[in-house]
Amino acid sequence: MLIVLEGIDGCGKSTQVSLLVDKLRSIGIDTLKLREPTDSPHGLRLRSILNEEIQAEHDEILDLFVKDRKQHVSEKIAPALNSEKTIVMDRYYYSTMAYQSASGFSMEQIRTDNSFAPVPTLVLILDISAKDGVKRVLKEGNADRFEKEDFLNRVREQYLKLKNEPNVEIIDASLEVQEVHANIWSFVENLMES
Ligand code: TYD
Repeated sequence: MLIVLEGIDGCGKSTQVSLLVDKLRSIGIDTLKLREPTDSPHGLRLRSILNEEIQAEHDEILDLFVKDRKQHVSEKIAPALNSEKTIVMDRYYYSTMAYQSASGFSMEQIRTDNSFAPVPTLVLILDISAKDGVKRVLKEGNADRFEKEDFLNRVREQYLKLKNEPNVEIIDASLEVQEVHANIWSFVENLMES
């Protein structure tokens, strides 16, 4: 199984990835936890750009996300799937489709450029409002607050357009952590039974 958790910044994705991985391991399923951007040189450059330590054009950023993913697929994702491991991922190409299309690139083109990447068994998009997302990632009174909220609003709209992609489900992430976890788990359980 290749299970992917997606959503805007502050949706609680990383917490839910950890809870899901722990749950799968507790019932004896050999599970690998992965995230994108990765810790490869491309991923590290991306993190420096995202932290505003260095500057880059949108074109380079898109290119780095795709290169980082190519390496990730060939070095980690494909081998794990071949050895029948279950993978739980914090972000995948749906992030590029949502974030980079919110920065002006064509979503269709991004999809095509990522067609090398295996399609997941299940993609859960953790949906919350941009206002709540910003509340969780930025402190009250942060000067970038409104700009960030506006951008995340656009990213959220792009994510919601992905609901008809294969194996994609939208989950209400405004609920309590354990409630969200239970909803995620019911989708994963269904998958294991089918
Ligand atoms: P992430 O590490 O999930 O954020 P956090 O530091 O909150 O855990 O992702 C870093 C940022 O990169 C996040 O704002 C989303 C963005 N991103 C893209 O824009 N495109 C992509 O393809 C990916 C994987 C991430």
